Amino acid sequence: MAAFAPLYTLHVWAAFIWVGGMFFAWLVLRPAAVTALDAPARLKLWREVFRRFFIWVWVSVLILPISGIGMIQISFSGFETAPRYVQVMMGLYVVMVALFLRITALQLPTFNTAVQVEDWASAGTQLAQIRRLVGINLIIGFLLVAVAAARPPL
Ligand code: HEM
Repeated sequence: MAAFAPLYTLHVWAAFIWVGGMFFAWLVLRPAAVTALDAPARLKLWREVFRRFFIWVWVSVLILPISGIGMIQISFSGFETAPRYVQVMMGLYVVMVALFLRITALQLPTFNTAVQVEDWASAGTQLAQIRRLVGINLIIGFLLVAVAAARPPL
């Protein structure tokens, strides 16, 4: 089906922007920032990183279900007949979005305010919580991509 390939491409791009971005933040940028910067500079850097990266996460959050549902209609002619691994994918997507919303709605505003007023101790505490939630989402994202790639006959 001609429409499948572009939807599939968008879907995988969105997945790697979100999961790859979290991987880079957690395993590359975080240790580099801890080594190279003192607390105020590091916390200001993270505020700018989140501001930019979360725009791309929002784009992924929208593209994944739109392209995914499009592919379900084309390949499996509906939700009921879609394989179980696709339903697992949707379930894990909901968990990932819930964690992301928790970060953007609760942790991030407090973190940004703390950086703004230069309350570095509070900003550090918020950053640790954001890091923990992003770490959980990173693990779920990796599991999800493994399920998607293996297409297990659940
Ligand atoms: C509402 C959310 C989602 C829906 C409806 C959905 C649906 C789908 C469908 C229908 C396919 C094609 C399966 C096939 O051709 O056998 C697919 C593939 C894929 N999905 Fe999702 N998906 C969703 C969320 C996600 C998320 C959150 C990620 C990762 C962060 C993800 C990663 C992938 C990957 C990597 C593939 C390609 C797997 C492969 O064919 O080897 N999806 N998805």
